[in-house]
This record gives sequence, C-alpha cells and structure tokens, in this order.
Amino acid sequence: MLGDNNFSFKWHFAESNQMVGTYSYQSEAKNIIESYEETVGYVEHVDEPATVYQGDAADLPSEDSSVQSVVVDPPYGDNIVYSEISDAFYVWLREYLGDTFPTTFSDVETNKQDEAVENPALVEESEGESTSIVARRSYEAKMSEIFSEVYRVLEPGGTLTIYFTDKEIDAWDSLTMSIIQSGFVISATHTITSEIPSRIGVQEDASADSTLLLTCRKPAKESEERVPTLWRDIQQETKQVAREEAEKLLDSQHNLTKTDMIISAFGPTLRVFTQEFPVVDDKDNEVRPKQALAEARTAVTEVLVERELSEGLDGVDSLTKWYILSWLVYESDSIPYDEARQLGLGVGVEIDELKRDTKIWGQSKDTLLLKGQSDRVRDYTALESGEKRRKRAYPVNPRDQTFDYNIDAIHAALNVLQTKGGDFTWNWLQDRDLQNSSWFSRIVKSLLQVMPQTHPDHELLINLASGETGGLLEINTDFLSDRDENGSPRTTLQDFE
Ligand SMILES: C[S@@+](CC[C@H](N)C(=O)[O-])C[C@H]1O[C@@H](n2cnc3c(N)ncnc32)[C@H](O)[C@@H]1O
Repeated sequence: MLGDNNFSFKWHFAESNQMVGTYSYQSEAKNIIESYEETVGYVEHVDEPATVYQGDAADLPSEDSSVQSVVVDPPYGDNIVYSEISDAFYVWLREYLGDTFPTTFSDVETNKQDEAVENPALVEESEGESTSIVARRSYEAKMSEIFSEVYRVLEPGGTLTIYFTDKEIDAWDSLTMSIIQSGFVISATHTITSEIPSRIGVQEDASADSTLLLTCRKPAKESEERVPTLWRDIQQETKQVAREEAEKLLDSQHNLTKTDMIISAFGPTLRVFTQEFPVVDDKDNEVRPKQALAEARTAVTEVLVERELSEGLDGVDSLTKWYILSWLVYESDSIPYDEARQLGLGVGVEIDELKRDTKIWGQSKDTLLLKGQSDRVRDYTALESGEKRRKRAYPVNPRDQTFDYNIDAIHAALNVLQTKGGDFTWNWLQDRDLQNSSWFSRIVKSLLQVMPQTHPDHELLINLASGETGGLLEINTDFLSDRDENGSPRTTLQDFE
C-alpha cells in the first residue's frame, strides 16, 4: 500500500515477518531510537531543552528576528499529497496518542486547508483557468507566505537552507522567485552526493544522484527600495560564474551527474541574479530567474563540450549539436521534455518545429525519447528490392547523395553498415565524399564519446570507426580506452563484446 504515494490498490505478498527481522516492528523501533540518540548527540552542549512545534509553517510561534537558522524540506508541487495519505496513519495514531498529545490530535483528520500542495481537488476553476493552474498558483502563494514568515523570524544575516530535489528549470524558477520576493538573497547551491548510487551510470562508472541544498540569507541590513538592474549588464556575469563553478567541479573530480553539475552552477548564477534583483530588460519588462538559469545551463554545457568532446562541435548543424549534447548531458535516451527543449534553445534549435520532419525524437508523456538510426532510416536492402517504406515514418533515405542534417548522414551510414556490410559502406562513404567532410569523423567520434555502450548504435559507431571503414575515415579510437574486466583498454569492437 502507498507504494506510489497514493491510495491505489496493489497486490502484495505478506512476506515480511512483522515481529522479527528487517522491516519488523522491532527493527523499525530500533532505527527510530538510534536516530533519536544520534540527533540528541549533536546538541549535547545545549542546556536548554528543545521545543518541538507542529503546525503551519506560514504561522510560526517565534518572535521577529529571533532565529539564527532555518532548514526546510518543502513539499514539491503535486508530487505527494501528504495530508491525504497521512490520514491512513493519523486516525490510528489519534486513537493511541490523542490523550498524550491533545493539541496535535485535536482534528479528526489531518489539516488539508493549510497544506502547501498543488491539489486541483481543493480549488475551483476561476475565470476560464483550469483547476490545475489555479492549484499551481495557490501552491506558489502558500510557499511565498512560508518564506515570508521564515524571513520574519530570522535574525538579520540569518540563513535559510532549503532541500530541493526537483531538477527542472521551471520548478527552480518558481521556487527562487518566491524566495527572492520574500527578501532573501540566494548565496549558494550545494550538491550532496548520496553514497549509494540510485541509478547506474551508462558508462562504466556509476554516478549518483544528489540531494541539493539551496542556501539563502536574510540581508544583514534592511534594503532600501531597490533600483532595477538591466539584464544586459549582468547577463555575462551570470554565465561566467556558472562556467567557473562547472570548471571547479570538473577539476575536483566529484562524481556528479551532468544534470547535477548544471544545478550546482545555478547557485553562483542565482547569487548574482538575486543581488541585482529586480532585473529588467531593455523594454523594462521583468526578467525572471529562469533566464539566468538558462545562461547557467548554456555555460556548463559549453564547458562539458570543451572538456569531454575532444573534437568540439564547431561547424556542426544545430540539430546535430542538440542531439549530441542531449546524450552528453542526460546520458540516456529518455530526457524530461522541457529540459531537452531548453537545451535546444541554447544552441538555436526549436525542437518542436523539427519533430515531424526529422523523427529524431519522440515523446511519452513528459519524457522525450531520443531516436537512433533504426527508427529514422529506411532499410537500404529493402529499398533496393522495391519495398516502399513510408517516407514520413522513416525520413532518412540512405540512397540519397546529400542529407538535410549532419546526423542524417551519420544515421544513414550506420544503417548501410548494418544492412550492407563494411566494403559496401566504404564505397557509399566515398561516393558522398564523407571521408573528406571535416564534420563526419568528428561527429562519429563525439557520438562514441557520449552514447551509452549499451545502445545498438554505439556498436555500429565502433564498427564504422575501427572496422573495414576505419582506414577510410582515419578516426583515432584511442579515446575509447575504457578498461575491461582485466583492466586492459577496450579499443576494438571485440573488446566491447
Ligand atoms: C518533502 S516532505 C518532508 C519530509 C521529511 N524531511 C522527512 O524526511 O520525512 C514535506 C513535508 O512538508 C509538510 N507540509 C506541507 N505543508 C506544510 C505547511 N503549510 N506547514 C508545515 N509543513 C507542511 C508535508 O506534510 C510534508 O511532511
């Protein structure tokens, strides 16, 4: 039950022994006691007893300017409706502990009204706006109320630390906007890498997802009415500080995913942005944090290209650049759609406009799926035997002499290699003079560097670079020197099998 953080019914085997062993009452009680003792250990030097208060964070029982530090782990939009799922436990706890904690358990159910959550079921449609839009706005308003309340109780110079796990720019935009509007200055983002990687990296080494901490400060002096700053005066600096952060992280050899590296760079960028807030463009329109965050993302991607792609991407068309960067940054064929779209804007390509004609990406709900050659190229052998594969479904024709995008030529070459073999492909490449196109070998090399070895195209790329056609393309494959089980470098296709 509650596996998906809702009340959907699921079949479950009643396998675990509730009395002894892992997840038993006994072991869970032991965990709680141990955690409690450890927490107490941190404050042994404090004489006064701690006070625990349970209530609405937008209405804190503290005096103005009386607290040094606040740490929050806030709810994120519509992720989990805590109050609803808590009722399953609340009613039982109330039976047992209602007498001991009469104030905490005074209500029959959990408090739904004060919860900071995006819950369309709790709001009404308003002036043609759907309940989900109204719910979003109500969540943001509640979070702003909470941050303003935190601002009130913090002493000048005090810090607010926020746990934030959402990695999408839009979520950062609304969160940081409400923080800034409450008067805080954002000073840093810290990424804390968990010890256990929650997903296995697509390359050999595993990279762990991180928890992100956003550190904000209540300014030591109340600021006077602030004069707006022109965006173009700080745009370059927002990018430069992100760049420096990315370089620092790469030098430090922290085992961060690329997305976490981008998010780590948000900290310095937001510091510049919030110090200068409010920020306006040349037409006096408000500039939102997401514009600065987009600069940070572009800066980090540029550093990643410089450091990780030996050949760079100069002279490569924008769509192909986007395709390579998507693999480089997300290390997977499944990418949050909006992130991928923003990445495209960063290199000057509107991916929505190219979806139908190129079929280079597909979509499943909010996830964008990057396509490989087999999804895009009409089969060469089948074309020869007169089979008419629908052009719209497979936009790349391997019998063409020229291609709309660089990536089409690469995908066509991989398809030809797969269906017709190395000798044929040698001639195919020569017919199109691709061995002399400066971009062709560079893209093959870049894709080898960014695509996961488990992707079927990766094997074809190795074949293209080091098989029969290797002599023609003259791609130096020394960079593929990952270690195999015996610690020997892997440089040929056979080594990867
Ligand atoms: C991300 S969870 C925190 C999880 C917690 N750190 C833990 O490890 O168990 C967010 C919490 O904020 C609580 N919450 C939602 N609205 C609130 C409000 N207005 N005031 C105080 N807490 C609220 C939710 O009930 C939920 O328990």
